[in-house]
Amino acid sequence: MRRREFLESAGTALGATALISPAVAAPASTPATANTATATESVEPGDWQGLRELFPLTRDYIHLATFLLASHPRPVAAQIEAHRRGLDENPADYLHSHNASIDAKVARAAAQYMGGDWSQIALTDSTTMSLAMMYSGIKVQAGDELLQTVHDHYATDMSLTHKARRSGAVVKRVALYDDPAQVSVEQCQARLAQGITDKTRVVAVTWVHSSTGVKLPIQALSEVVQKANTGRAEADRILFCVDGVHGFGIENQAVPQLGCDFFAAGTHKWMFGPRGTGVLWGNDAAWARSEPVIPAFSASYAAWLGMLPEEKVPRGMHFTPGGFHSFEHRWALPAAFELHLQLGKANVQSRIHALNTRTKEGLAAMPHVTLHTPQSPALSSGLVCFEVKGIAPDDVVKRLHRKGIIMSSTPYRESYARFAPSLLNNEQEIDQALAEISALA
Ligand SMILES: Cc1ncc(COP(=O)(O)O)c(C=O)c1O
Repeated sequence: MRRREFLESAGTALGATALISPAVAAPASTPATANTATATESVEPGDWQGLRELFPLTRDYIHLATFLLASHPRPVAAQIEAHRRGLDENPADYLHSHNASIDAKVARAAAQYMGGDWSQIALTDSTTMSLAMMYSGIKVQAGDELLQTVHDHYATDMSLTHKARRSGAVVKRVALYDDPAQVSVEQCQARLAQGITDKTRVVAVTWVHSSTGVKLPIQALSEVVQKANTGRAEADRILFCVDGVHGFGIENQAVPQLGCDFFAAGTHKWMFGPRGTGVLWGNDAAWARSEPVIPAFSASYAAWLGMLPEEKVPRGMHFTPGGFHSFEHRWALPAAFELHLQLGKANVQSRIHALNTRTKEGLAAMPHVTLHTPQSPALSSGLVCFEVKGIAPDDVVKRLHRKGIIMSSTPYRESYARFAPSLLNNEQEIDQALAEISALA
């Protein structure tokens, strides 16, 4: 980066563009394409058909696993393409004319969708990167306990395992429920409370379990953590950390009101963001207990050069991994947040839950099917896990694929078939998929 960019990023950090003198603020040469990356298409609130038209997803299949990795909707693809063109035509000038301020713009777009302050949001490449940065960054001591659940994804498990090996902290695990279909708020609260000790410094949970489709009652669990934190010194307070990737892009929920300290999510699943993007939100107390793992660029670099004190760098910026990235993807992320806001967060939530309820009611009525996901929308979201008597989950998935229906099986030691109705499906598709599952009897 050039001196002008450091001044600009320092200005962004201080919220003071006046810090940038006009002489140095004017780009030496702005590439012609620099400002052409605007969203090209929009969609009306709740227009699901219109939304589907924005995706190049093949019509040859019914897609019931779109959450795995996003297909880029046209507004996102258009922004990626505009940034790609700018970078390809003139990488140095395009980078210099965007680099200092664009991360803050992306974080602002994220905050508009997630709620809270942009300065608390770090930009990452995936849920896994958000989780790894979060757990690697939290300061703990040998003997401290990191309490997670047996329901978490590989990425949480291994981030905590690596952290424990590096720090001497100890990973403990608790089962919040035995039978997912029968999960209750009280049971989850009681099991979590049993797992917490005086040595617990981190509680790690997953909002929606990709193993079972259970949606944890995060606010109710937060009450348990808050109770355990009562009377503790700040340094001993438990940080409540959530892998929120499933749920994010579905639930009409402001992240800062969930009751957690950290929230990690990829934006390339339910959010339809560019592949290779994610976010990590933390409140001030959580960031204060953490140390970055990968040096940040932009304002943190300016701090290193002595242009501003490091503590003036917004925490999200300071924790956003530096180095050069596939910038065209990261910089196109606002288009995905805008698309969700155009659809309306409440509309999105009620549509996905309506399709999920239709799916669960259909599966529950089949004698040869065991539904593992709770029926209640309060305790489930997006993912529906089930078994078909006498057929292995992978074979269920294969047999449906032969019928033109794409599902997935859960990548856990105990595996189920998984049906994930999303905004890209309609009632007819759900009914057709249910009819094929019924025919497996
Ligand atoms: C609960 C959960 N967390 C994390 C991940 C990893 O997500 P990413 O590919 O964004 O790293 C997955 C993958 O689907 C998941 O199900």
